Amino acid sequence: MPTKFEDLNTRKHHNNLTLIVAVSENQIIGKDNDLVWDLRTDMKRFKALTSGHHIIMGRKTFESFPKPLPNRTHVVITRQKDYAVPEGVIVVNSLEKAIEIAKADEQPYIIGGGEIYKQALPYADKIELTRVHGNFVGDTYFPEIDLNEWVETHREFISKDEIHAYDFSFITYKKQTNTK
Ligand SMILES: NC(=O)c1ccc[n+]([C@@H]2O[C@H](COP(=O)([O-])OP(=O)(O)OC[C@H]3O[C@@H](n4cnc5c(N)ncnc54)[C@H](OP(=O)(O)O)[C@@H]3O)[C@@H](O)[C@H]2O)c1
Repeated sequence: MPTKFEDLNTRKHHNNLTLIVAVSENQIIGKDNDLVWDLRTDMKRFKALTSGHHIIMGRKTFESFPKPLPNRTHVVITRQKDYAVPEGVIVVNSLEKAIEIAKADEQPYIIGGGEIYKQALPYADKIELTRVHGNFVGDTYFPEIDLNEWVETHREFISKDEIHAYDFSFITYKKQTNTK
């Protein structure tokens, strides 16, 4: 008979691993290693949510930034063995290793890009998705999510205005607990 403590230790470790993404109606997230829109309120929300936390990303997304983002622990995934980064940035050779390192954080984020989102979906507990209401031309996609598996728990619509060229919505999805 396992003791109560052993029981706790063998349970799946949920650590609120959250995918954060901005995606168009036709699932585009980027083009030429850059974003395809400039939505100030979305960037502010990204900063507010991720500040103080681990942000896990693919090597290409890391290289899309002019420099590391302030006040966040960057965990960069690459297959390269000698990938050089500025001091403080953590480099790992697998998504699993990145997730393991980020378990020190009660709210780690997966911040992209397309390759990493696709591989990280099975590990994620939550998605903070900004739906940009339009169809865009691009070269990088967010995978379709299975709405039998993901439940929408929050939605907020923001209209286009003088500083935002498109309507967009902040949508939170939580992964259904497996009841089987
Ligand atoms: N709209 C948004 O919210 C959002 C967010 C983030 C990024 N983006 C956009 O997405 C685009 C970049 O996405 P992307 O799909 O091209 O690249 P990415 O996912 O950022 O990075 C891909 C790289 O990650 C590494 N990698 C991937 N899987 C790995 C694994 N299992 N093990 C070890 N390393 C692995 C490889 O690096 P090496 O080649 O070095 O081995 C691979 O080339 C850009 O346009 C960016 O602006 C959009």
